[in-house]
Amino acid sequence: MDQTAKIFVAGHQGLIGSAVWRALHSAGMPHILVQTRAQLELTQADAVDAFFKRTQPDYVVLAAGRVGGILENKTHPADFLNTNLSIQQNVFASAHRYGVRRLIFFASSCMYPRSCPQPMAESALLTGQPEPTSIAYAIAKLAGVQLCLAYNQQYGEKRFLPVIPNSAYGPNDNFNPDTGHVLSALIARFVKAKREGAAAVTLWGTGAPKREFIHADDIAAACLQLLSKDISTLEFPVNLGVGRDISIKALAQSIAQTVGYTGELIWDTTKPDGAPRKLLDSTRIQTWGWQPTIPFEAGIQSTCDWYVTQGVNQHPATTTSA
Ligand SMILES: NC(=O)c1ccc[n+]([C@@H]2O[C@H](COP(=O)([O-])OP(=O)(O)OC[C@H]3O[C@@H](n4cnc5c(N)ncnc54)[C@H](OP(=O)(O)O)[C@@H]3O)[C@@H](O)[C@H]2O)c1
Repeated sequence: MDQTAKIFVAGHQGLIGSAVWRALHSAGMPHILVQTRAQLELTQADAVDAFFKRTQPDYVVLAAGRVGGILENKTHPADFLNTNLSIQQNVFASAHRYGVRRLIFFASSCMYPRSCPQPMAESALLTGQPEPTSIAYAIAKLAGVQLCLAYNQQYGEKRFLPVIPNSAYGPNDNFNPDTGHVLSALIARFVKAKREGAAAVTLWGTGAPKREFIHADDIAAACLQLLSKDISTLEFPVNLGVGRDISIKALAQSIAQTVGYTGELIWDTTKPDGAPRKLLDSTRIQTWGWQPTIPFEAGIQSTCDWYVTQGVNQHPATTTSA
């Protein structure tokens, strides 16, 4: 990438944003713009506009948003819809106004119809109703994808790049069992159970649903390619997955083994499962030239190690703070 380019990573303390920050830092990019939420509240249009006007970023990776697991989605649907819609609208409008060259927007596999044929190809979007437990989040993300495509169409340039990663994991994830995603919540619960010598751990649902997990560093590597390479042949939105899924039961067993928890796993089948399967068809981006590189077992091991040694509050050091 052009070493003089200024890149704004929105949400740099989160799971995906911190991975993008690490990748840019490792690539020697000297001008990475970051703001904590206290410094820049992205739902505030005037503040976002002032930030873009002052800093004039060349590239934007929008990794800020309201994110959470099933329980969070069910209890705060209005917040999920409102917050994500306004962040998207504000950041896209300012990016357009101040001439950003490329912006990556992270959409979600929750946008696909609940009964979508597997693996889910990009062409299946808007062919059916998304899973009801996360529909507010899904609608916000669908609106974000359409807004990207609308800017590209109206202004005749491919600058707004909607990317659909499957379930991400890695350092700086939300490991809170009540609000986090399944993989990080399982790590936290098994580490705690092991420390406390618990005889059993009760988990939500049947364990039957299958999910595809992608390490945040693989997502970040894809971002660097999307910002720096020729994208003229790549159609958007584009799925980003590893091409392999695993049942929640097998995932739980794998994490329990990795952290050394040997107690019993009890499945509370009165709790919701969510969508039965969500495997992405990532042929489009793989044909273009991106491949995941982090094997699942190694990714789980390093994420468990990170959680045990550094905990949930480890954030990347701040470089260029605008
Ligand atoms: N995680 C996944 O599996 C996954 C999969 C597909 C797509 N995505 C999408 O990828 C993006 C990043 O996800 P993530 O998992 O990395 O999220 P995350 O770990 O929760 O991080 C989100 C970041 O955004 C910041 N943020 C949230 N609301 C903000 C606001 N109003 N103003 C300024 N900053 C705000 C948060 O700051 P605070 O912590 O200070 O609130 C945090 O640093 C999201 O758009 C998400 O929908 C995630």
